[in-house]
Amino acid sequence: MLVFLRHPGQLLAVAMLVLQPAGSLEGQCPIPDIPHGQLKPAQNITYGSTATLECDAGYIPMGISYSSMGTSTLRCMANGRWYPRTPACTLGHCPYPPAIDYADRNPQREFPVGTNVIYFCRSGYTLLPDVSPITTCLKNFTWSAIPKLCQKAQCPSPVILHGRELSPGKAKYTFGQQVEFQCDLGYVLRGGERIQCSSDGTWRPPVPYCDKVCGPPPKIANGQHSGLGREQFPYGTEVKYSCAEGLSLIGDESIYCTSDDGVNLTWSGPAPECKVVRCPRPVVQRGRMTPQRFTFPYGAAVWFSCDEGFVLWGGAESRCLADGTWHPPLPTCQPVRCPQPQVPNGRLKSTLDDQVWYPANATVTFECLQGYHFSNNGNASLEDSRTATCLPDGNWTPLPTCKEEGDADVCEEVHYIKTTFECGVPMAEVKTLLEIQKLFLEIKILKVKLGILN
Ligand SMILES: *[C@@H]1O[C@H](CO)[C@@H](O)[C@H](O)[C@H]1NC(C)=O
Ligand SMILES: *[C@@H]1O[C@H](CO)[C@@H](O)[C@H](O)[C@H]1NC(C)=O
Ligand SMILES: *[C@@H]1O[C@H](CO)[C@@H](O)[C@H](O)[C@H]1NC(C)=O
Ligand SMILES: *[C@@H]1O[C@H](CO)[C@@H](O)[C@H](O)[C@H]1NC(C)=O
Ligand SMILES: *[C@@H]1O[C@H](CO)[C@@H](O)[C@H](O)[C@H]1NC(C)=O
Repeated sequence: MLVFLRHPGQLLAVAMLVLQPAGSLEGQCPIPDIPHGQLKPAQNITYGSTATLECDAGYIPMGISYSSMGTSTLRCMANGRWYPRTPACTLGHCPYPPAIDYADRNPQREFPVGTNVIYFCRSGYTLLPDVSPITTCLKNFTWSAIPKLCQKAQCPSPVILHGRELSPGKAKYTFGQQVEFQCDLGYVLRGGERIQCSSDGTWRPPVPYCDKVCGPPPKIANGQHSGLGREQFPYGTEVKYSCAEGLSLIGDESIYCTSDDGVNLTWSGPAPECKVVRCPRPVVQRGRMTPQRFTFPYGAAVWFSCDEGFVLWGGAESRCLADGTWHPPLPTCQPVRCPQPQVPNGRLKSTLDDQVWYPANATVTFECLQGYHFSNNGNASLEDSRTATCLPDGNWTPLPTCKEEGDADVCEEVHYIKTTFECGVPMAEVKTLLEIQKLFLEIKILKVKLGILN
């Protein structure tokens, strides 16, 4: 009778048999070579007798019919053959591996001895430290022992400097638990104020931190700042000041929460002041002012210009300062002056005229140095070109020029001829003119020869 149990503790499947009376060697079956198993008894099995097949650990007898009558016989037949024909041992299997709390395994259906099965913790759970998630199908068809594998995901206790957890802190938090924070006075929370332990054991959003803040910015008389009603001002915050109606803001309009030492936060500068600032109406004699206005508060700008014949000394623009003065100081309008005129190869006719500056309308008379004479520039009369007048804009009327004698007449002639051509005078007329010129030059040469000219 064969008993085959598939439960832990069973080592072997055993086929039991009844020994027949012993016979001669000739009347025996040959002992087959069975991998992973052997027959018992191992010799002298006579025709008609039976034997048991013992498989190695992890193996079970195969090919032996033990289903129909509950018996299985490995029988030595009269013809020296075995029945069934080929006794063999085959690798045994384990049942399905056990279910493990909060874990799943890869989907597998066959588990021959030696199979490894790996478990994975479900979402929200993590593998306990120092445990192996692998179980093996053993030779006794049981699974190697599996300890507790998975635990609820745990988050480390969050650390927050200059702040605290709103609920009483715990050493450990598990998946799904929430924590809220509050910062100490003088600090502001950066990041989420409520965080949750996520399935992978991290905090989401990440643990916030407490950042230093500036206290309220300084208050000012007759004015206010844009941060009214707030107590904490993170680094970089700007507050703007404004003054009551009619008052001027003196100083920087905005200040910032900043840090001088990289550690403590302070406001970037002193708060501005709100004051009544009026500058006196600017008065510039012989001058004008734009824009036309009647009050001159802090910051007001005015531009100046002078009456004709006068010139501005000082800045053309001035602004009303916080102390009620004008900056730059108001300019003055001074009479226009012309610098002493310089005529190359000429000089002032009267030494009485010799001055560094000349008032407007002043007229000076020139004479040319020896060997030079006035050029009329082919235009004005000789008399006019000897004087110059100081104009109301500080310039002189066109100054005369002194030219070397001799050359002058020729130059004038050439100039004249040139302008004649430019004017489109008829050719016949030009011809006549040129003949006159020729005559003129000939007379001149004659004069030189006779030594009349000196
Ligand atoms: C199976 O074998 C293992 C290891 O050899 C042993 O620890 C375990 O107790 C056995 N199980 C049974 C049911 O015999
Ligand atoms: C097998 O048979 C032989 C001869 O008959 C005998 O000598 C031997 O002792 C037997 N062996 C066993 C184990 O019975
Ligand atoms: C920051 O402020 C604290 C408190 O006012 C003070 O004790 C500390 O010395 C300051 N740190 C630096 C670097 O100035
Ligand atoms: C210069 O002369 C003009 C015209 O005669 C006169 O209107 C002007 O007032 C004079 N200027 C000065 C500075 O004397
Ligand atoms: C030439 O004469 C005209 C009119 O008389 C005058 O306006 C102009 O300024 C003169 N040019 C020179 C260079 O003297």
